[in-house]
Amino acid sequence: MDEEGPDCGKADFVLLDQVTMEDFMENLKLRFEKGRIYTYIGEVLVSVNPYQELPLYGPEAIAKYQGRELYERPPHLYAVANAAYRAMKRRSRDTCIVISGESGAGKTEASKHIMQYIAAVTNPSQRAEVERVKDVLLKSTCVLEAFGNARTNRNNNSSRFGKYMDINFDFKGDPVGGHIHSYLLEKVGPAAWGPGAGRTFWEVPGSEGAPSAPGLPHPLCPHHPGGSGRGPLRGARAQLPFSPQSRVLKQHVGERNFHAFYQVLRGCEDSQLEDLHLQRNPALYSFTRQGAGLNPLDSDERSHHQAVMEAMRVIGFSPEEVDSVRRILAAILHLGNIEFVEMEEGGLEQGHVAVAEEVLVDHVAELTATPRESVMRCLLSRTVASGGRELIEKGHTAAEASYARDACAKAVYQRLFEWVVNRINCVMEPRGRDPRRDGKDTVIGVLDIYGFEVFPVNSFEQFCINYCNEKLQQLFIQLILKQEQEEYEREGIAWQSVDYFNNATIVDLVERPHRGVLAMLDEACSAAGTITDRIFLQSLDTHHRHHAHYTSRQLCPTDKTMEFGRDFRIKHYAGDVTYSVEGFIDKNRDHLFQDFKRLLYNSSDPTLRAMWPDGQQDITEVTKRPLTAGTLFKNSMVALVENLASKEPFYVRCIKPNEDKVAAKLDEGHCRHQVEYLGLLENVRVRRAGFASRQPYPRFLLRYKMTCEYTWPNHLLGSDRAAASALLEQHGLQGDVAFGHTKLFIRSPQTLVTLEQSRARLIPIIVLLLQKAWRGTLARWRCRRLRAVYTIMRWFRKHKVRAYLAELHRRFQAARQPPLYGRDLVWPTPPAVLQPFQDTCRLLFCRWRARQLVKNIPPSDMAQIKAKVAAMGILQELRQDWGCRRAWARDYLSSATDNPTASGLFAQRLNALREKDGFGTVLFSSHVRKVNRFNKRQDRALLLTDRHLYKLDPGRQYRVMRTVPLALVTGLSVTSGRDQLVVLHARGQDDLVVCLHRSQPPLDNRVGELVGVLAAHCQGEGCALEVRVSDCIPLSQRGARRLVSVEPKPEQPEPDFRCSRGAYTLLWPSR
Ligand SMILES: Nc1ncnc2c1ncn2[C@@H]1O[C@H](COP(=O)(O)OP(=O)(O)OP(=O)(O)O)[C@@H](O)[C@H]1O
Ligand SMILES: [Mg+2]
Repeated sequence: MDEEGPDCGKADFVLLDQVTMEDFMENLKLRFEKGRIYTYIGEVLVSVNPYQELPLYGPEAIAKYQGRELYERPPHLYAVANAAYRAMKRRSRDTCIVISGESGAGKTEASKHIMQYIAAVTNPSQRAEVERVKDVLLKSTCVLEAFGNARTNRNNNSSRFGKYMDINFDFKGDPVGGHIHSYLLEKVGPAAWGPGAGRTFWEVPGSEGAPSAPGLPHPLCPHHPGGSGRGPLRGARAQLPFSPQSRVLKQHVGERNFHAFYQVLRGCEDSQLEDLHLQRNPALYSFTRQGAGLNPLDSDERSHHQAVMEAMRVIGFSPEEVDSVRRILAAILHLGNIEFVEMEEGGLEQGHVAVAEEVLVDHVAELTATPRESVMRCLLSRTVASGGRELIEKGHTAAEASYARDACAKAVYQRLFEWVVNRINCVMEPRGRDPRRDGKDTVIGVLDIYGFEVFPVNSFEQFCINYCNEKLQQLFIQLILKQEQEEYEREGIAWQSVDYFNNATIVDLVERPHRGVLAMLDEACSAAGTITDRIFLQSLDTHHRHHAHYTSRQLCPTDKTMEFGRDFRIKHYAGDVTYSVEGFIDKNRDHLFQDFKRLLYNSSDPTLRAMWPDGQQDITEVTKRPLTAGTLFKNSMVALVENLASKEPFYVRCIKPNEDKVAAKLDEGHCRHQVEYLGLLENVRVRRAGFASRQPYPRFLLRYKMTCEYTWPNHLLGSDRAAASALLEQHGLQGDVAFGHTKLFIRSPQTLVTLEQSRARLIPIIVLLLQKAWRGTLARWRCRRLRAVYTIMRWFRKHKVRAYLAELHRRFQAARQPPLYGRDLVWPTPPAVLQPFQDTCRLLFCRWRARQLVKNIPPSDMAQIKAKVAAMGILQELRQDWGCRRAWARDYLSSATDNPTASGLFAQRLNALREKDGFGTVLFSSHVRKVNRFNKRQDRALLLTDRHLYKLDPGRQYRVMRTVPLALVTGLSVTSGRDQLVVLHARGQDDLVVCLHRSQPPLDNRVGELVGVLAAHCQGEGCALEVRVSDCIPLSQRGARRLVSVEPKPEQPEPDFRCSRGAYTLLWPSR
């Protein structure tokens, strides 16, 4: 009860300071206002209908209650369901849950929650057969509600039948089957046949024409609309003042027929309705007209219909059976619209009765799969056996025909309902169970049955219902008191007798053989014809005039609340109820023409036929008088009570908070009345009379040990009993308790309250203590986890570094091997922390490798290497080919291979120039083709020394045409192709446009060499050289700007320039 603060009232009425109606109501109201709809009386659960969805149900709540004891959690249906389930599982005992309360108090909802709980906590291993049973159990409710529930003024979904469901469990506690018993659909059986209607089907042949009961107005008497004796009379619907109207035929204002009718009308497809000859509007049918305007939304009805269809499918109704059910419902609706016309004259025999709309008879015949003529005959006449084996067909009057029609409609529905229940039972029958192999099944029974009923006028139905409640109360008293007594004996506690009202005498008044009210009623029925309701009342008066719980106006003439000759009163345990005897005899009978039974038995629809096995009898057969409705009911009650008595009971007492079906309104007067008649105060008193509470010692200590220093946190005494005694002594409460063998009995609730209060005072401190310890534990766990994480991280990092270094070492083992010196080695990916380290290593490695490579180069090659390195730095990736793979000879004009004819001449010129200009080395020399600013193209030679750039004329012994000091050369431009175009730029000089040529081999690629040697020289001198790579080179000559580009020309024998509109084009013989 952890979530139950003191502001929510007492979770158990036993804990009330005083057991008075005021205190009880105050607690009930307080709890209701706080949304606590459940309260215990010991182990009995009191439930108030909240009329609103409360967040109390569902898987989470179920988990909260699963496997817990009743007292551990706030009061709840789940706790009761769990207690019943655990009791059954632990002790292998059958248990039952009895749910009672008035209409609309929430019994059916409670039973559904109980079923859901049981379904949720069973079959953890998901066995298919168990799942099937669970499905059927859960779905059966939906189907039964469709056929057995209706909207009434008290409840929009009122169960018009009592239901007791047994659920069978195997030794593991999983449901393996079940059985449903239904009691008294619509609280009264099939209608009685109207008086004066001739012999009933069970009458012995020969006793033809039982006279009408004198006490009842005859249908044909002058003040009856059907009895005027003049016709034709349309729509002679029998309206006897006391005729037992069934819900199938007629409903009170504001009520509806059974849901099934509206679901068929609103939920079926158009084509289905057409097959059934129905139209969608319920107002068109006599039986559904009254409730037509009260329907929920069409869409709701449709979805309910679908849900019922789905449920029937899951349960195992075949499609043919479902069709039959639909046809039977339709047939009942059509039957209701049949009216009879009584013909006075006009060629027809006087009194002859005809059906007003014969097409309806066609429909009924088609839907029930019976011959049309037979249907017509059954509606308009009856077969009577008159002496011997002779059969006479006797025509009905219009009123009789209407009675017959109504009786038939009611009976067909009744049989349909019973068939549905039986069908579900067949499916739920535990299959293939062998007690020797599987062990005995245990059972939980759930009883959802009507509570006490008191109306302004109470009739036979209320009498039966109230008798049922007397029986259940009797059981309740017996079991509760018996259990108490047994417990005291078991525990060795002296038993104190408790003063309570035992209603056995009232039960006896009703059910005693021969003299009980039911027995006398049967007697009156068997003597039908001579005995009237009034005479029946007189005989009751005679026999029970001294009974303390029986009275009538005859016996108490001054009591004007009863009518003379009509009313009698029974002082029920729940209060006085005055019954009107009118109609008792009729209602007690169970009549229907044998003709109808035979008709329906002979239907070619197997489903319908199966509902009427008794139609098999021959009309002339002498049958035993069937049991009356009262006796049948009594027998079923006796069987029910016997069944319940053999089980361990759990009680749910439902209370309806108001008559308006609205949330958050508790009408005190209304509830007080229910508390009275449910005997709840008495229940509390009985519970408290002996001992208000009893608890096993360990459980007691667990709850209160914190209130005593000897028991907190754990006691060191010899036994739990000694510890409990020490605890009570410390509180000074030892005088108010008794010590049983295993349980402590606390006499007054005050003691329990004292203990609860001192516990409540300590709980916050304990909570703090627990919180402190728990928070500390949590923090320690977190800290330890964090440390572990850091250690793991540290070790992991170390591992990564080591692994990297090892891998590096492994890979670079081969780095010393010439000639590549590790050129192809791939560096492993370093951990992020080692990235800078690897960068540095790479740099070092490159330097080391360069050193290894350079070390072996002869000094004579160094100048060439340097020039190549310089050229690579400039041209790599900018020019396609820069002649890197060739040996660079530089001075090609002095070479005998390159310049075979004039190398000698050139050598002379070179010597002269060396003498004149004093240069040190020749950087580069080559023949070139040049173009000048006058567009003149000529062959020239280019000589580059470490001092000057010379342009020479090869045609005139290499005479110097132009000298430019090297210091003035600022840069050169080349193209990205393979051509040998070079533009030399010098400060203050015209740009020199040349193409290297006449090389050996021809078109040898020497531009890279020229760039390289010049760049290397400039690097050495420390001066700047700008090299541009472009396919369209701009140049300047005497201030004029021009462009030079290259045009590949395969047929061109030698490179040459072309000039046009201020631009030069080198025509390059590309091959
Ligand atoms: N626990 C609950 N939570 C929410 N609503 C509820 C609860 N119990 C009952 N109700 C509401 O009250 C209505 C009536 O309940 P229910 O049909 O169970 O009454 P009943 O006791 O079975 O009545 P009857 O004897 O007429 O069959 C339900 O349709 C539902 O609207
Ligand atoms: Mg119900």
